[in-house]
Amino acid sequence: MRSTNQKVSEGSILIVGADGTIGGALKTKLERDGIPVVGTTRRPGTESRSRVFLDLAGNVDGWKCPVPVGVALICAGVARIADCERASAETRRANVEATVCLARSLAASGAHVVMLSTNQVFDGSRPRRQVDDPVSPVTEYGRQKAEVEGQLLSGTTPSTVVRLTKVLPPRFPLFGDWIKDLSCHVAIHPFLDLVMSPASLAFVVEVLARLLAQRTAGIIQVSGDRDVTYADAAHYVARRLGADPQLVQPRSCVDSGLPESAAPRHTTLDTRRLRDELGLNPPDVWSAIDTALLP
Ligand SMILES: NC(=O)c1ccc[n+]([C@@H]2O[C@H](COP(=O)([O-])OP(=O)(O)OC[C@H]3O[C@@H](n4cnc5c(N)ncnc54)[C@H](OP(=O)(O)O)[C@@H]3O)[C@@H](O)[C@H]2O)c1
Repeated sequence: MRSTNQKVSEGSILIVGADGTIGGALKTKLERDGIPVVGTTRRPGTESRSRVFLDLAGNVDGWKCPVPVGVALICAGVARIADCERASAETRRANVEATVCLARSLAASGAHVVMLSTNQVFDGSRPRRQVDDPVSPVTEYGRQKAEVEGQLLSGTTPSTVVRLTKVLPPRFPLFGDWIKDLSCHVAIHPFLDLVMSPASLAFVVEVLARLLAQRTAGIIQVSGDRDVTYADAAHYVARRLGADPQLVQPRSCVDSGLPESAAPRHTTLDTRRLRDELGLNPPDVWSAIDTALLP
């Protein structure tokens, strides 16, 4: 495998959306490893040599990175299912139209484009979806991602789509709330019919760093090894805390107002390419949950 250092001589790494959870963590890792990286921000007044302004809600036609780009990773966009559902036209302009326009222009200037996608490109009716299963989104967020995937992969230059399931950062806010309540003997109400197959943020960053170095093309999927409900996760957290298990009082997400389309029965993805081509196996879901409990 070629090292990231060898590849950077062919251009810098551009992270589109460097203020986000994933983009920010990856930028920090690359900078720590001494790799030249430029990130984009949509927060005016915070620009610097390694932070350039880019707003996908504006006109991105003609946008140019100030340095030559070897690999561009697109992490920016509206990533909340509810936001895409509520403002489909507006989010589509940023998540689809501007993203595709930017990806095409970066590819035309010689960059290898990597885009982050989601298990939501599938309807959740079957576990461990394969990379070549036909997409079947049932949410607006999933439809937007599926459309960008299609546009990117049908281009003439090699590019990469990374489908992610739930990504758990350290101090995951929901778990923090559970810990606070359980520690004060207050009941919590996790969903018993909402599943996740999480991977830790650290693992996802490792995958992306390897991908940027290798420029593996096509679809790469990152997923935990199984689906667990949020109620399962809450029971696990309560056990780790030594809290009273009676305080975990699961509820239905549908009864709580979440649309059924946002609660797929399965979220797992097949991760064979991850193992065979990147030499990485996702840790089991409980280890991923452990990392999200770290202070
Ligand atoms: N996290 C997950 O569990 C997960 C799972 C599957 C897929 N993904 C995908 O991975 C990608 C990154 O996810 P994330 O968790 O890092 O998301 P995030 O924390 O919400 O970060 C998204 C970033 O996009 C930026 N952004 C939003 N609208 C923008 C616009 N109009 N122009 C420019 N930038 C804009 C945000 O800027 P501000 O910081 O200024 O708001 C933010 O920095 C997304 O495409 C998401 O769909 C994430």
